[in-house]
Amino acid sequence: MATRDSWVSNIGFVLAAIGSAAGLGNIWRFPWLTAGNGGSAFLVVYLLIVVGVGVPGLLAEFVLGRRGRQTPIGALRSLTASRWGSALGAFNVVTALVIFSFYSVVGGWILRYMLVSPSGSYFGQPQAYFGTVSHGLQAVAFHLLFLGIVAAIVFFGVSRGIERASKVMLPAVVVLLVGLAVWTATQPGTDAGYAFYLGFDADYLAANFASVLGPAAGQALFTLSLGTGAMLTYASYLEEDVSLPRDTLVIAVSNTFIGVLAGLVVIPLLFSQGIEPGQGGPGALFVALATAFASLPGGAVVATAFFGAVLLAAVTSGINLLETPVGTLVDHFEMPRDRATLLTTLLVAVTGSGLALAGSIFQFVSGTLADLLLTVGLFAFLAIVGWLLREDAVAEFRVGAGRFAPLAEPWLWLVSWVLPVVVLFSLTNTLTSLAG
Ligand code: PHE
Repeated sequence: MATRDSWVSNIGFVLAAIGSAAGLGNIWRFPWLTAGNGGSAFLVVYLLIVVGVGVPGLLAEFVLGRRGRQTPIGALRSLTASRWGSALGAFNVVTALVIFSFYSVVGGWILRYMLVSPSGSYFGQPQAYFGTVSHGLQAVAFHLLFLGIVAAIVFFGVSRGIERASKVMLPAVVVLLVGLAVWTATQPGTDAGYAFYLGFDADYLAANFASVLGPAAGQALFTLSLGTGAMLTYASYLEEDVSLPRDTLVIAVSNTFIGVLAGLVVIPLLFSQGIEPGQGGPGALFVALATAFASLPGGAVVATAFFGAVLLAAVTSGINLLETPVGTLVDHFEMPRDRATLLTTLLVAVTGSGLALAGSIFQFVSGTLADLLLTVGLFAFLAIVGWLLREDAVAEFRVGAGRFAPLAEPWLWLVSWVLPVVVLFSLTNTLTSLAG
């Protein structure tokens, strides 16, 4: 068998993983959920869950990937020494394909907004314009364009494609968002937005803790790309004995930083235009932002920079989602990468187009179904690490861990006992919202 592709450097792996984590979830979903769930109250609960559940959960996925040294099917089969492992791996690959299908459609929306922002052509009627962007044949066309960009990167492989692209794109996202956040701070009328976003309302938190918990947990899992085997796949390309706990911390902190930064742009901008954020679902964010950009000085430039940042962030997440099935075909069926990329891309071209045409299915797939698949996947990962591998997992944690090594046992305890409970809670939450 030919040697597997791998990262050239640890920093390449870390940047690619931050790129995966920081995506539409941070810039599109996070500010929106925050605004709809009491602002800072949501932020606090979300941060607690990221630290308590997200970080140890991400570490568990990394441990599985580096120990298994294969994409999900091969890794989980060899680690569990059972066909159930292969079945779970196949489930992960399907999850990545499902998520990528709607992700690519939304990526297409962003691409289109970026392309038309310089002319400000949607400034006149943002609501009507979003209608033409979000569904129908034009949505299909832009989905295919976005998919093409992602596929072109994955085509070149882990080190020559994904690692190189991440090293350029991720820093660009941060620079653009910092610039936008600074510009936002100079705009009049943003005070109420900052107060809402950053001010801490203990009473609201006490009264709404339980109802904030579900969405906060869902967001924490989605934003860290957990439960799809995507992060497992990235860790499988690690050859060096890098410190997984250190890398995990860097990735989680950077991802949170990017989410908070996006909130510092979006929320004050909406408030400055008198737009009440948080209502009307995710599509409403596009309309609200477009409305804000339309009335801001230099709105066309700001809008282009904003959608440019979102586009780059979405691409670096998309490549992780596409690499998961592509790498699986390469590993498992020894298919050449070019053919694997072509085949997977064709499949997503079809599934994504279906979603771009059928609005009601799109809602279900991007919401409930995605949440459901992620939580089930993560629960299975936790069970394998916490109940099956145990000592092996601790040993893998300790490889290269340096001063983090003593944390291996407490981590295993969290993964065995605490995380499954939280993930089950999140699952119940998804199921009740499905029933309701
Ligand atoms: N974390 C990405 C985001 O926040 C989405 C994603 C989920 C990427 C799962 C890869 C795997 O946008």
